This record gives sequence, structure tokens and C-alpha cells, in this order.
Amino acid sequence: MTSDELVTNVHQQVVDWRRHLHQNPELSFHEQDTAMFVQETLESVSGLDVTRPTATSVMARLRTGRPGKVLAIRADMDALPIQEENQFEFRSQRPGAMHACGHDAHTAMLLGTAKVLSAMADQLSGEVRFIFQHAEELFPGGADEMIQAGVMDGVDLVIGAHVWAPLEVGKIGIVYGPAMAAPDTFWITIHGTGGHAAMPHQTVDPIVVGAQVVSGLQHIVSRAVDPLSTVVVSVTQFVAGTTHNVIPGSAQMQGTVRSFDPELRESVPALMERFVKGITHAHGATYELKYEQGYRVVHNESTVTALVEDTVREVLGEAAIDTMKPTMGGEDFSAFQERAPGCFFFVGAGNPTKGIVHPHHHPRFTIDEDALDIGVRVFVHIAARALT
Ligand code: NI
Repeated sequence: MTSDELVTNVHQQVVDWRRHLHQNPELSFHEQDTAMFVQETLESVSGLDVTRPTATSVMARLRTGRPGKVLAIRADMDALPIQEENQFEFRSQRPGAMHACGHDAHTAMLLGTAKVLSAMADQLSGEVRFIFQHAEELFPGGADEMIQAGVMDGVDLVIGAHVWAPLEVGKIGIVYGPAMAAPDTFWITIHGTGGHAAMPHQTVDPIVVGAQVVSGLQHIVSRAVDPLSTVVVSVTQFVAGTTHNVIPGSAQMQGTVRSFDPELRESVPALMERFVKGITHAHGATYELKYEQGYRVVHNESTVTALVEDTVREVLGEAAIDTMKPTMGGEDFSAFQERAPGCFFFVGAGNPTKGIVHPHHHPRFTIDEDALDIGVRVFVHIAARALT
């Protein structure tokens, strides 16, 4: 059988696996059932050496016995704390948990890829390493843990993909260089002095100060950073007060900073502190600022990305290639790319004609399942190119 026939044959199984996983979502670092399902499925495929690098992750190695490169392919497996609002039969059966980012699809596609590649192992050289990662959605993420457990030892190149709802099914999104941002988090508390709302002069109003802090932080992007550089500063939560006639004693906020340039990234906390310090000082308030760096930038290396692009052109045709802009979303696939040159690409999964229009992390998020076949096909052909 040709590789394409093998992919066609496994398609229904990949759909079934995805639906099973979709029905049984598990949150980050709690992927016990998912990991067991993946392990058992891989153990039913001949020729794979299956291990559990960490409590809820799985790795399978396909060693061809012939000298060659080691290609790692990574899928993430975790779900999100969202109550699903889809009505289809295979909707989540677990209250408050949902595969709203498509990691169920990633896991199913990689299982399908493992099955197809093990059936064509005699045509390959080197090794394929299938990495089923836990906890992508929750910092510090599962990637670093798996790397510490040795999953990237000896790997020559690494690839991964994300199903992508904003991109139409049939398209593959490819970005060279920086592809996904470094996502950092901050927390600010403004300490004022509470009191009667009718006598504001006897208080230090943390809401008024906090409002100026929110505005001030916007000037980091518009006035303190080179307009040709890319950075996002978003305050996403502001909590203060209890009722209409009391000025509270403090206000809490949190938010995210997204950037691509490492130097710029390093400079943001100090800029932020300067604004917060100056504004609170002017009002006689005090502050606490906590800043935490998240994942690194997903950076697509040029030769591996060219391999992905050439493969997509061969398998799906020129029209399938979508030269995407980078996204400000974050991904701990970046950790694998620090250990080997790699490419993270996007598999179009949206389809307005079928009503598949909801964004990632939405309670009605879903994918066009035709994307599963496309994803497996592309993975299989990339492996065939890299390892022959
Ligand atoms: Ni995701």
C-alpha cells in the first residue's frame, strides 16, 4: 500500500479517536485517562517502543534500524476549563472541561501518523519519535518537563502543528522565523486609603489611581517602544470595591504582555514599573507589581520550515499554502525548538459553510474533521522526506 492509501485507511479511526478524546477532556497536568488511552492505542501498533516520560505524557519511538536522522513530532493533549456549549453527540461528558483548542485533534492526528509510519517503516531510515505532551495550556507547561526527561535527546529536527479555526480547512499556514509570541503575565495591586465616597479628599482612591495606571500602561506600546517592534500590553482584569458609597482600600489588576524580540521583552517589566511607580507616587498610593515570564517565542527555523512548505506543495498543491502572519498567541512548542531546529505550522480547520466559525477557547469551538486527514497526510509526507 502507498502512504496515501494508508492515510485514507486510518482516517475513520482518527475521527473516532478525536471524538473519544473530545468526549473525555482532561485539564492540564491531569491527563491520566488521556495518557492511558494514548499508551494503549500506541501499544496496539506494532514496531513502537512506548514509554511514559512523565506521569501524564507518552512517547513512542519508531526505530527503523537503519542509520538516519531522528525526527520528533509533537502533539499536545490537554483541555481547557470551559463548559462546552456544542450540542453534537460527542460533546464533552465532563462538566467544566472542554477540548476548546483542538488538542484532541492533535492527539488523534499523531496517533494516526504513528500507525501509518509504523506500517511503512521499511521505507524509512533513522527514527521517528512521537511526543504526546501534557499541559500546554497551563504555565510552566509540560514541554520542559518532557525535555528534562530526555525526550529530545539525539533529536535532529522537530515538527508540530496546531489546527487553526481562523484558517479555512484545506489550507496550511506557514510562518518563517518568529511565529508565536512570548506570553508574559503581570499582577498589580494599588494600595490606597479607603473611606466614605462623599469625602474623597480624606481617601487615596485606588480606583482612580488604577484607572490612570491602565491608561499609563498603554503608553508603553505607543510611546516607549519602537513603532516597528511588536508588543502587546493588555490589562485583562480589574477588581476593586464592594458597593456604591465606599471608596475601597485597594485595587487589583492583572494582564498579559506579548512580544517577539528578546531584548524588548526584557525591557518591559522595568518600563511597567516606571509607569506604575510614577502614577501611584503622584497620588500618594503604593503598589505591588509581580511579573512572570511565560513560554519562549516559537521560532521556525528556515530549513525545517522549507521542508514543511515543500511537502505541503507536493501533497496539497500550491494553493494550500497560506503565508500567515505571526500570531501573538503563545505555545510551549518553543521549548522543543531550543533543543533542535523545528517548525510549528497551522492546519486550517474552519469552515463557515458548515457553521464552523467559533474561535479557539470558545464554548462552541470545533473543527472541520477533514483537517484530521490533511494533518496526518502532511506529517507522514514530511517524515518520508526527512527520513529517506
Ligand atoms: Ni492550543
